[in-house]
Amino acid sequence: MNNIHTVFDEIKGRQDKEIFLKQKAKVIWFTGLSGAGKTTLASHLEKRLFELSYFCQILDGDNVRSGINKNLEFTEEDRIENIRRIAEVSKLFMNCGIILLCSFISPTNEIRNMAKEIIGEDDFLEVFVDTPLEVCENRDPKGLYKKARAGEIKNFTGISAPFEIPEAPFLRVDNTNPDIDETIKQMLIKILPEIRFDPTEVI
Ligand code: ADX
Repeated sequence: MNNIHTVFDEIKGRQDKEIFLKQKAKVIWFTGLSGAGKTTLASHLEKRLFELSYFCQILDGDNVRSGINKNLEFTEEDRIENIRRIAEVSKLFMNCGIILLCSFISPTNEIRNMAKEIIGEDDFLEVFVDTPLEVCENRDPKGLYKKARAGEIKNFTGISAPFEIPEAPFLRVDNTNPDIDETIKQMLIKILPEIRFDPTEVI
């Protein structure tokens, strides 16, 4: 039999769900040092997108490293596995038509390229949160830089582990600007055309 009809033919696909949600699924991938402000920006952006009727999910260290990736640490190997799983999970969310806001250090070009390959180049919008190390270290919201300098934390990004500047991000955000509303506005100008649903495409 050539035409085997399986249950998978009945399952609604990504486009059906994008039509339902009136949006295009994408992954907005925030990369930058610890303390750069990735999660703060992601949560402000989610709030604005929600007001504009876009349906998003934030993935970050708090909900990923305490759950699905609880068994991973900060060796290069574990960081690769951390990001691999996050990229695969993001793909599943995208199949539901959902916009992902992922905020992870994802410190090297190799790691970010892997995420881009898993997610697909067209759906991967890389946002480099460009906050200098000195600023992150001064903020030190969790006291981790102090511990890393004292040698109490090994492989700490920016201190004893590398962070490679993204080569060609979709967007670079100067997160030393205190006017976060203005920063979010500039981000929306770039992001909205990517996630906007065009009903004429499906009529
Ligand atoms: S990633 O490198 O694998 O992408 P991820 O974004 O998940 O890192 O986690 C980074 C967060 O873990 C930091 O913001 C910080 O709070 C915490 N952390 C604990 N140990 C380290 C470390 N050695 N290097 C970087 N961040 C660490």
